[in-house]
Amino acid sequence: MPKIYFDERIAATYDADSPEMFEPAVVEETVSFLADLAGAGDALELGIGTGRIALPLSRRGVRVHGIDLSPAMIAQLQAKPGAEEIGVTVGDFATTRVEGTFTLAYLVYNTIMNLTTQDEQVGCFLNAAAHLEPGGCFVIEVGVPDLRRYPPGETVRAFTVTPTRLDFDEYTDFPGQIVWSHHYWVRDGQLEVSSAPYRDVWPSELDLMARIAGMRLRERWSGWTREPFTGESTSHVSVWEKAE
Ligand SMILES: C[S@@+](CC[C@H](N)C(=O)[O-])C[C@H]1O[C@@H](n2cnc3c(N)ncnc32)[C@H](O)[C@@H]1O
Repeated sequence: MPKIYFDERIAATYDADSPEMFEPAVVEETVSFLADLAGAGDALELGIGTGRIALPLSRRGVRVHGIDLSPAMIAQLQAKPGAEEIGVTVGDFATTRVEGTFTLAYLVYNTIMNLTTQDEQVGCFLNAAAHLEPGGCFVIEVGVPDLRRYPPGETVRAFTVTPTRLDFDEYTDFPGQIVWSHHYWVRDGQLEVSSAPYRDVWPSELDLMARIAGMRLRERWSGWTREPFTGESTSHVSVWEKAE
């Protein structure tokens, strides 16, 4: 089983620490996009976390099941109203199978990068495809690797620098596409620190993984409101479709 980085401490403040991701407009755009794709079928969220997207999607009338490695994140979800409508399985979303078939599987907020080997990421595509009905869709929201922002010879890039918060990425393995994200923040006068590894992945590599899993790219946008994806896009929302 992979190491759990979203432990009790991270889970307790997860919602409060990512306020921009919990903005009603951001959640609404995401849920609308996913609800359209799910149609009358069921949806499977890989890395369901505290239910940021699953709960409002379920309120829209889509039946949602989630997989997550972290009992602490799931406990946060299950303490929220509406959680009783959502089935949850504790496990690794690269390998864990749940009962049923789905018209939609989705993996948002860069969570594919939590799988830190190519094998695991391919396994995730195979697992998503195995749960989908023919014609069903797999959606990923993830950043485009930002290598252009690292000056030559540098392996560290800070992206939040305030008196009470420092976030920076550290590329520890360029060929293996491994970047560690480090976070330091002062809360109630105490310094808190957390670090976790991620695997950067290019859109084209994801397309190849989809092909290996019997899916083909149907749409790629730079955001949930279907803004065009260009060479300047910093992230993408991609939809692959399982063969009929
Ligand atoms: C960035 S959070 C995203 C949570 C939620 N999807 C959201 O959008 O707020 C990533 C979640 O994926 C879970 N996770 C990471 N790696 C996993 C794995 N291999 N299998 C299952 N869950 C995993 C973490 O426990 C965490 O809850």
